[in-house]
Amino acid sequence: MDISGSTAIVTGAASGIGAACARQLAAKGATVVVADLQADKGEALAAEINGVFAQVDVTSTEQITAAVNAAAEIAPLRAVVNSAGIGWAQRTIGRDGQIESAHDLDAFTRVIAINLIGTFDMVRQAATVMSRNEPDADGQRGAIVNLASVAAFDGQIGQASYSASKGGVVGMTLPVARDLSASGIRLNTIAPGLIDTPIYGEGPESEAFKAKLGESVLFPKRLGVPDELASMVVECLTNSYMNAEVIRVDGGIRMPPK
Ligand SMILES: NC(=O)c1ccc[n+]([C@@H]2O[C@H](COP(=O)([O-])OP(=O)(O)OC[C@H]3O[C@@H](n4cnc5c(N)ncnc54)[C@H](O)[C@@H]3O)[C@@H](O)[C@H]2O)c1
Repeated sequence: MDISGSTAIVTGAASGIGAACARQLAAKGATVVVADLQADKGEALAAEINGVFAQVDVTSTEQITAAVNAAAEIAPLRAVVNSAGIGWAQRTIGRDGQIESAHDLDAFTRVIAINLIGTFDMVRQAATVMSRNEPDADGQRGAIVNLASVAAFDGQIGQASYSASKGGVVGMTLPVARDLSASGIRLNTIAPGLIDTPIYGEGPESEAFKAKLGESVLFPKRLGVPDELASMVVECLTNSYMNAEVIRVDGGIRMPPK
């Protein structure tokens, strides 16, 4: 599927994997709507790639509506990448036997709200707008990629909320792709392993932490770089025969319990 001359929305595009996707989609000729909470970084990236910044909190249905409408006004919206996401680490129960020390339920709800419900809200609204596009010669109107995580399959100690959110993104892949097929829209999910982005924080401590993490990767023994993820995202968007699939991009890692 050709995305040149189309708009592409990338959530979480101000940083990490989303930023790499935004750059690669712009290089393929799409006008990218950089949709993120972070205005300073988002605006700078939009300026760099001749895109447009949209202030979007993916937990706000109204802000998603505004972004998809803005994208469709520029050119047909044919590509969406849902990369906005947050991590959270906390064990399900505390060490002292007190119910008050059990997993923070507000935190669990927030992770699900951003990573799972925010992703689905963008999918349902963007696909609705895509369904009005003129189909290409193959009958295609658009394509969507969601970012899950290998934690959907090998969630570690403390990853209950994060793994539940990403497991939901994996689980919706086939039914949503089936729903959208009648409209000529494809949907795939990428499950990254350990990728070197600001999600692990910045500074000497996080550099040491990331170096340690890299040792658990099968091969190559390092963290992935955002461009290695973005190229798979772009392949899923542009390869017309990729649909309803979940792809691990992880250097072969299988996460241990901790
Ligand atoms: N880095 C990894 O190792 C890794 C591994 C597996 C999965 N992932 C997933 O890949 C995606 C991108 O991760 P990353 O490593 O690039 O992270 P990152 O922290 O570098 O970027 C995430 C971006 O999402 C934005 N964001 C957060 N909450 C938002 C909200 N409510 N609305 C809009 N934007 C919001 C942030 O502002 C940030 O710009 C996430 O969904 C993450 O869970 C990352």
